[in-house]
Amino acid sequence: MSPVALSVALLAIAASFSNSLANAQDGAVATFPATPLASKHFAYPTGLPYQADSEHLLRGTQTGYNQCNSTTEGQNSLCQTSFVNSADDFCLWAPIEPNSLISNTEGEEVAWCTKPGRGTRVIPEGTLKGIQFMRTPDYVQVVGFIDQTKINIADGDFGGELDPHGADLRGNPLGGLMYSNAWSGNNNTFQQVIEWHNFMGGNAFCIKVCDPSKSHAADYCQHIFDRIGCAYNAPNNAQTGVFESCQGENQDFPGVYTTNGQVVTYTQPPESLGAISTMPYQPRVPASSNCVQFQSTALFAALASVTAAPGVSSSSSTSASVSATVTGSATGSAAVSSVTGSRGGSAASSGTPSGTAQGANATSNDASVVMMSGLVSFIGVVFSALFLS
Ligand SMILES: *[C@@H]1O[C@H](CO)[C@@H](O)[C@H](O)[C@H]1NC(C)=O
Ligand SMILES: *[C@@H]1O[C@H](CO)[C@@H](O)[C@H](O)[C@H]1NC(C)=O
Repeated sequence: MSPVALSVALLAIAASFSNSLANAQDGAVATFPATPLASKHFAYPTGLPYQADSEHLLRGTQTGYNQCNSTTEGQNSLCQTSFVNSADDFCLWAPIEPNSLISNTEGEEVAWCTKPGRGTRVIPEGTLKGIQFMRTPDYVQVVGFIDQTKINIADGDFGGELDPHGADLRGNPLGGLMYSNAWSGNNNTFQQVIEWHNFMGGNAFCIKVCDPSKSHAADYCQHIFDRIGCAYNAPNNAQTGVFESCQGENQDFPGVYTTNGQVVTYTQPPESLGAISTMPYQPRVPASSNCVQFQSTALFAALASVTAAPGVSSSSSTSASVSATVTGSATGSAAVSSVTGSRGGSAASSGTPSGTAQGANATSNDASVVMMSGLVSFIGVVFSALFLS
């Protein structure tokens, strides 16, 4: 093929992601699907395909499936159909096998949810250490602190970003689909979410799903700033030990900031240039209002019956206890949820009553949780430090 023909072919590939052209060019396994994942639309639940990505391409085949039901339900589920609905009803993407690194498994993550009933895994009790659900005009977002070992993320992994794009447009995980009832006006009516992002790692997470009817969904749920974490992609005031649902204003588009009256878009350096050690801006945390705090046991009652996989080493196995704050009560009753997990799945609970009012953070002997709760006002910094290190 002449250089001119070759570049024409490459342009055509870039423009259309055509497998046939890619194959004709070098005979290798193609990289791109005929249709990017973010362009595939399926009604829930009737229109769900067995796999949204049925291709055999460079990154292999989709690991799990999108048709999830009572047969697939449970801690071995490979369901890759996920939801973000409300403070008590959302899923996170996490690995299939214990002790995994997000970077090694990003193509294969499965849905772990706060509610059973949709054919997925359930987030084990004791995983969630504090969450903030935020509803804004253009998106809903959940940010929180976790014991990530309970959802198969290796202790110490700073993780990375999952989104429906990826370098090959097949998504991470491949074929992962997202739905929400946040804008349908009916809890039983789910819309497909086309633009979303989920950062997992550093014992924290953020997941944002953007209202598909809004013109800036792709901007608020931007997926290209995968190295700068929750602080820059989902600026927030989430606190460990606090479980709350809020309304808020929209954040700035991730990576876009205003300095000296000028709107600037950040350019993320490639990994080949090494760690990102400085940032030219601090993200603006948007105003929020009407935050309602809950006891974690009230939000996540369904999780009590689920334990982490046997043999999962937990960083907070001995005496972690999470208590929710009780707003507006100086003598809030203790809300202690027992923690199971580790120790071969046997119960290892020890409740520490701690339900005082405002400012109560996780009551725990776990050094890392205590350290985090001492830094609640600098959560953004903590997040960015994690992702920049
Ligand atoms: C349940 O889901 C699995 C996995 O997608 C699928 O193979 C099976 O056919 C489904 N069962 C029913 C009854 O829909
Ligand atoms: C819909 O879900 C929300 C959040 O879980 C809940 O507060 C509300 O009561 C539900 N509405 C109905 C009508 O069930």
